[in-house]
Amino acid sequence: MRRKLVVGNWKMNGNLHQLAEIAEIAAAAKAAAGVDVALCPPFTLIAPAVARSNGLAIGAQDVHPAESGAHTGAVSAAMLKEVHAQLVIVGHSERRAEAGETDAQVRAKAEAALARGLQTIVCVGESEAEREAGRHVDVVTGQVKGSLPDDGHEGEMVVAYEPIWAIGTGKVATPADVAEMHAAIRGALRERLGERGGRIRILYGGSVKADNAAELFAVPDVDGALVGGASLTAAQFVPIVEAAARH
Ligand code: 13P
Repeated sequence: MRRKLVVGNWKMNGNLHQLAEIAEIAAAAKAAAGVDVALCPPFTLIAPAVARSNGLAIGAQDVHPAESGAHTGAVSAAMLKEVHAQLVIVGHSERRAEAGETDAQVRAKAEAALARGLQTIVCVGESEAEREAGRHVDVVTGQVKGSLPDDGHEGEMVVAYEPIWAIGTGKVATPADVAEMHAAIRGALRERLGERGGRIRILYGGSVKADNAAELFAVPDVDGALVGGASLTAAQFVPIVEAAARH
């Protein structure tokens, strides 16, 4: 039985004034039994968020594969651990698009994060054009094969399926689309990692809101959600956490 995991990705949003939201989310996360909750604010808010986290896991949205060195603008896994981050998102489609990250680079980041004991969420997802061409399953299972380390421990490695056309658009994949893809990802994980592939959690991301969360959590192999816009306020995020706790 895989425990549900709900992760908020604040992207490039959030300032010191919004730390009160984090405290409110943390209180609700504590009250929600049977579900894991985490929040990934921008780097600047990780340390102050940890101070208000009350046990809520706080993470980052990216990490550099190297330990340290001449990598202007980058942050290492060791640095994240030092400020008590517990997880990191790698290979988000916005980074693949804006920073040109390849599967190999995403994999190197995941390996560095896992080696330092950070829970690591590897993102995959197809574009609208790839789906329209009927290539979505091949594209995503190819990303799973190319981006995931071989030796990720199941408690520590998570896959997030985020169809690019559903991110920030209000367009949600249908339960049938999600079921097809999560089954394909599960198959790729088992093929790649054997029995361990059955224990890795697969999150859905893309316009998850309070009013569609329960339907998504009911889909087989949906083990939680990666939430963007609706994670910015406790009012929108907490009902999603509560929906996960009911499943
Ligand atoms: P939205 O929930 O805003 O669509 O963003 C999804 C996402 O990209 C989370 O990583």
